[in-house]
Order: sequence, then structure tokens, then C-alpha cells
Amino acid sequence: PADGLLDRYGRRATDMRLSLTDKCNLRCTYCMPAEGLDWLARDKVLSRDEIVRLVRIGVDRLGVRELRLTGGEPLVRADLVEIVAGIRANHPDLPISLTTNALGLDKKAQALKDAGLTRINVSLDSLHPDTFAQLTRRPFLDRVLRGVEEAARVGLGLVKINAVLMRGINDAEAPDLLEWAVSRGFELRFIEQMPLDADHGWTRDGMITAAEMRSLLERDFVLTPDPRRRNGAPAERWEVRRRATPDIVAGTVGIIASVTEPFCADCVRTRVTAEGKVRSCLFSHEETDLLALLRSGADDDAVLRRWQEAMWGKPKAHGMGHAGLGAADYVQPERTMSAIGG
Ligand code: GTP
Ligand code: 5AD
Ligand code: SF4
Repeated sequence: PADGLLDRYGRRATDMRLSLTDKCNLRCTYCMPAEGLDWLARDKVLSRDEIVRLVRIGVDRLGVRELRLTGGEPLVRADLVEIVAGIRANHPDLPISLTTNALGLDKKAQALKDAGLTRINVSLDSLHPDTFAQLTRRPFLDRVLRGVEEAARVGLGLVKINAVLMRGINDAEAPDLLEWAVSRGFELRFIEQMPLDADHGWTRDGMITAAEMRSLLERDFVLTPDPRRRNGAPAERWEVRRRATPDIVAGTVGIIASVTEPFCADCVRTRVTAEGKVRSCLFSHEETDLLALLRSGADDDAVLRRWQEAMWGKPKAHGMGHAGLGAADYVQPERTMSAIGG
């Protein structure tokens, strides 16, 4: 690429996160309001062909090296398998991953693998039916577990599990979640809750910090830094040993400390919403419309230039927890997590 997706602070985005829909069949409290949102009309959402074209421009012209499909919940899109196949046809070697709640994945996992999906990340915050239902406002834990198991069975790469920890809700469960994951060969990542909920209910004190996460896990496990390189990934990884068998590495755990140990300086991400708008950062207050441009008949050069302009303005950092910035430097975006796309 001429200069790829550069920003004014010298970062280059190589990791594209594309939201396929704003809809979801769960209502996680940290992500969406109980009543849902006013879903976008179908013709306001990127079509399969538009998605395939944007990814082609990103990969062939702008230096994108990895693609992640998000939502809302990407599995609610009826044409998900065709979308993956359409992208794969153009890019035989591109890593394509999916972040999903796994509802319905039991029926789609094999087809997704056959279409060329590389791997999945599953959001799962609790293994207790009541806690799961409280958190997601839906009683679907069994179905989610079926989805995860089927994905593992068909060999959808390394399965990663995302768990946002919340004080007094699922924090005490952290060691059990980790035992469950390592015993199945999954890579669990504990995530600090970010203020991207609908009710603006996030508080700094309510958030379980990365430091607390590590001490919660120490009840059952010994954690040592994982020597592998991080490469701009949100998760800091730790090797996990059970206290009972301290000589054996049982697995890996990731900790995503977006708030207390921000990783913005190494950010490699560019985001496109389901509406076809570029967000240079999860916490951007601006979006740049590519969909209108695509539909106006613009050529690839015009699209890529607009995408580059959008990324050039990427904020330096989100403001929470950064040295030299106070609480007042963070302003919550209007959109909730579900409408941004994780
Ligand atoms: P892998 O490449 O599979 O490790 O994926 P990932 O961790 O980048 O993606 P995933 O969709 O599983 O996201 C995990 C958590 O990291 C979610 O809570 C995301 O919101 C958070 N996250 C991902 N990208 C960013 C980012 O650019 N900034 C911040 N602050 N958080 C992010
Ligand atoms: N803070 C942190 N992580 C969040 N996710 C959704 N909302 C939030 C939030 N407010 C996570 C989900 C999903 C991933 C895309 O983002 O757990 O796995
Ligand atoms: Fe990148 Fe913005 Fe996330 Fe920081 S908050 S890591 S800049 S997307």
C-alpha cells in the first residue's frame, strides 16, 4: 500500500474489525439496553457484496492483514456463511475470525469452517444459569455452551472465550471459569468493563481491574508472564499452572486491561460499522461514511482515500487511565458497544 491506514501519531492499522449487524439476541447489561435499540433498516446495512468489496480494498490496497467479523451478533445475519465464503474467495491466506455469543453456532459451525472461517472468540461471562441470565437478560446458557462445543468439535481453530468481570456478579466465578476453559483447551480472556453501556451505569469502582483479576485467580492458579510477543493485541497473556500441579503448564489466560493499562499507543485497529462507517477508534466521536460513497458509484481509489482520511484523525488515546489525563478527558461515545461492533 502507498502508505496504508496511517494516523498522525505514526500508528498503522492492519487489523480490520467489521460489524455485520447491529442486532443481537442477548442483552448484556454492559453492551445494550434491556429493550434493545432501534435496529437499522436492512438497506442501511452493508450488503454482502459491499462487505466483500471493502475487505478487498482493505487487504489489497491498504495493508489490512487480519479481519475480524463482529456485531451486534454476527450469527443473526442469515448470509454470514456466504459473506465468509465471498471474502475467502478473494483472500486465500487472510486470517478471518468471528466474535460471537455462540447462540446458534451449533448449527453453523461446520458451514462456517467450510466457508473458510479461521477461528472464533466467544463472549461468555458465567457458567451459572442464573448469573448468565442476569447478565445477558436471556436464559440461554445451555444453547451457548452447545455452540461453543460444536465449534471446538469441528476444529474452528483456537477457541477464545471473552469474559467481562463485574463486581458482585461474576467476579467470584473467575477461577472456575478459567478451570473450565483450560481443561477444554480454550484461551480465556478476562476483560475490564469499559464505559460503553446504554445506561451509563459504569463506575470506576464497580470495574474489576486487571490487578484484581490476577489476585482472584491466584486462589487456584499460579500465573507467569507468557513470553510470546504481544504485537498490539489487547490481551496481555499469562501462562497458567494449577496450584495442585505447579510443574505443568495447564494453559494460557489473557487479561484485557483497556482501562487501567491502556494499549492505545500500539493500536493496529480500524473499524467499520454495520452501516458502513469507519471508526478510527472504539471511542471515536466521529464516523466517516463509506457506504454512501460505495453506492454513489465511487471507484476504489476514492473509497480508499476516504478511509485513509478517517484513520489519519484517529485519537491518540481514549483518555481513561492514561498518565497525564484525568477522568474529565474521557467522554463516552453516543453509541453503545453493540452498535460500534466491539
Ligand atoms: P484476538 O485477535 O482473537 O485476540 O481478538 P481481540 O481480543 O482483538 O478481539 P475480541 O473481539 O475478542 O475483543 C476482546 C475485547 O477486547 C473486547 O472487550 C473488545 O472490546 C476489546 N478490544 C478489542 N479491540 C480493542 C481496542 O482497540 N481498544 C480497546 N480499548 N479494547 C479493544
Ligand atoms: N466493556 C468491555 N468489553 C465489552 N464487550 C462488550 N461490551 C463491553 C464493555 N462495555 C466485549 C464482549 C465481546 C467483545 C466484542 O466485547 O464481551 O466479547
Ligand atoms: Fe485503539 Fe482506540 Fe482501543 Fe485505544 S481505545 S486501543 S486507540 S481503538
